[in-house]
Amino acid sequence: MQINELKTPCYVIDEGKLIENLEILNGVMQRTGAKILLAQKAFSAYYEYPLIGKYLAGTTASGLYEARLAHEEMGKENHVFCPAFLPEEMDELLEICDHIVFNSVSQYLFHRERIAAGRRSGDDELAGVSIGLRINPECSTQEGHEIYDPCGAGSRLGVTRAALDKVIEEGFDLAASDIEGFHFHTLCEQNSDALAITLEAVEQKFGDLLYDIKWLNMGGGHHITRDDYDIATLEKCINYMKEKYDLEIYLEPGEAVALNAGYLVTTVLDIVENRDTKILILDTSAACHMPDVLEMPYRPPLKDSGEAGEKKYTYRLSSCTCLAGDVIGDYSFDREIQIGDRLTFCDMAIYSMVKNNTFNGMPLPDISVMEKDGSCKVIRRFGYEDFKCRLS
Ligand SMILES: Cc1ncc(COP(=O)(O)O)c(C=O)c1O
Repeated sequence: MQINELKTPCYVIDEGKLIENLEILNGVMQRTGAKILLAQKAFSAYYEYPLIGKYLAGTTASGLYEARLAHEEMGKENHVFCPAFLPEEMDELLEICDHIVFNSVSQYLFHRERIAAGRRSGDDELAGVSIGLRINPECSTQEGHEIYDPCGAGSRLGVTRAALDKVIEEGFDLAASDIEGFHFHTLCEQNSDALAITLEAVEQKFGDLLYDIKWLNMGGGHHITRDDYDIATLEKCINYMKEKYDLEIYLEPGEAVALNAGYLVTTVLDIVENRDTKILILDTSAACHMPDVLEMPYRPPLKDSGEAGEKKYTYRLSSCTCLAGDVIGDYSFDREIQIGDRLTFCDMAIYSMVKNNTFNGMPLPDISVMEKDGSCKVIRRFGYEDFKCRLS
């Protein structure tokens, strides 16, 4: 089947592009010895996990369910970080994860007994779990995206040095704890210059402690597979930290794994006019199928289109939902658009399938895979039951 024969709306995973990204990431691993993990929060199309597992060291999860998915579908290194874990999750996490990263010393202390009990029981799997602490280097390298800045004022994400010193003063002995690694995640769609700046802050705030740990996880937000990304600087950063502090280095990008490796194909259902604005009603929705368009916000690339006014015919692209603001953006075309035309949004593999919803009872898009030769196959079709089963 070709892409123009797919029933819409449909996400299409571009396997050729995914492989190109994975080759770039694998190159970084080969040259530096760092381990790169897929951040499943961005892309959890587990159909592709066996392929991804051929190139990357494993996965990272935002909680038990993603960790379980990785365990079932990839079975490589399995890391998890969550601002707070529940007591009833800990047994399973200890069994299926290789690294568990806590957001605070109090969370670590809350679960410490369970971790120690596992170790005392002599269970090899539990004994092998490495415990980490998320640190907050308080170094913002991005502007205007407060919602995506874990180093923003009052952030709950990661222990600041002042907070760590306070619990140490109160009697916490870091060296005697199970904590073997530090994790930081501060970047969002950034180049390696931002990583270099962040590492200076990490060293300045936590440098004295880095000699005593085994690994450092530098989080995600590294846009490694973007054309203008400076890989040489990334590799310099990795090698510097690795050699100076004798650390095993992890990176856990999400976006970079599946950047530009997917489309969302949609059909024009109607065209309405309001004064000078021509509005396309699509069978997709920003609110339901690409929520980051409204949340971030951003304007997704659309094939064969230009900015509003750039080409002869400009339209506002919108959806079937009741939300007045469910607008994807204004785009222009060389030709007049007709009801029944198909349009293709690009870069729709990341933060799309994992975030979609059925608000208004909107059907979820099918998921299909486009192989290297351009042929497509549907790997998941959704229907009314998928809407109903999330309700009661
Ligand atoms: C802890 C953590 N790791 C990794 C990532 C993945 O980031 P990205 O998809 O921007 O590479 C995120 C994103 O929010 C994150 O919070």
